[in-house]
Amino acid sequence: INIPQFRHDLITWFEQEQRDLPWRENQDPYRVWVSEIMLQQTKVETVIPYFHRFIQSFPTLEALAEADEQQVLKAWEGLGYYSRVRNLQAAVREVVADYNAKVPEDAEQFGNLKGVGPYTQGAVLSIAYGKAEPAVDGNVMRVLSRILLIQEDIAKAKTRKIFEQAVRQLISHENPSAFNQGLMELGALICTPRNPSCLLCPVQVHCKAYSEGIQHSLPVKTKK
Ligand code: ADE
Repeated sequence: INIPQFRHDLITWFEQEQRDLPWRENQDPYRVWVSEIMLQQTKVETVIPYFHRFIQSFPTLEALAEADEQQVLKAWEGLGYYSRVRNLQAAVREVVADYNAKVPEDAEQFGNLKGVGPYTQGAVLSIAYGKAEPAVDGNVMRVLSRILLIQEDIAKAKTRKIFEQAVRQLISHENPSAFNQGLMELGALICTPRNPSCLLCPVQVHCKAYSEGIQHSLPVKTKK
């Protein structure tokens, strides 16, 4: 793979074709964080109206930190996985108490907050602060398993680290945000689980699975 060409093709496509999504209006780390937590177990179309209402009710990190837990849970009602928002509120309270209400830019500090796993850590730090950190979720593993022909079982917990290492080799240090979001957007719009739209893919020339005609059989996923 020609890495500079791959980065360029991915980022150029993302900048032209990205969806207008409410959490892409600005780079406020609090808004990016809320969106990434909501998007973890919930699809984009469902998240959009919840995101608008949540930000209207709790526009800033301080507002969420000071809010009554029952009101926060009420704003989350219907999204499910309520530990997500309980952890988020606990974490923003930590940010107020320990970091003067500013989301830490340091990967270790941010990653140690309640409910912030490796995916959220990389997503928020790259999108909000432009840090060259990997943000690997299931969609990104699917995309990269095809491009790089990685046949590791994505159901195994250890496998995410393999993909994180791959992203560290590939990521644009000039624009980590567009690079990571480009991988997510490619997984959502083109490199879908079934019938990927390879003929429309901006990185088709880089894709090992496409060149071998085996994109449909990737990623490898056992049933755990
Ligand atoms: N899925 C996870 N994070 C996302 C984001 N920032 N935009 C769109 N879909 C996503």
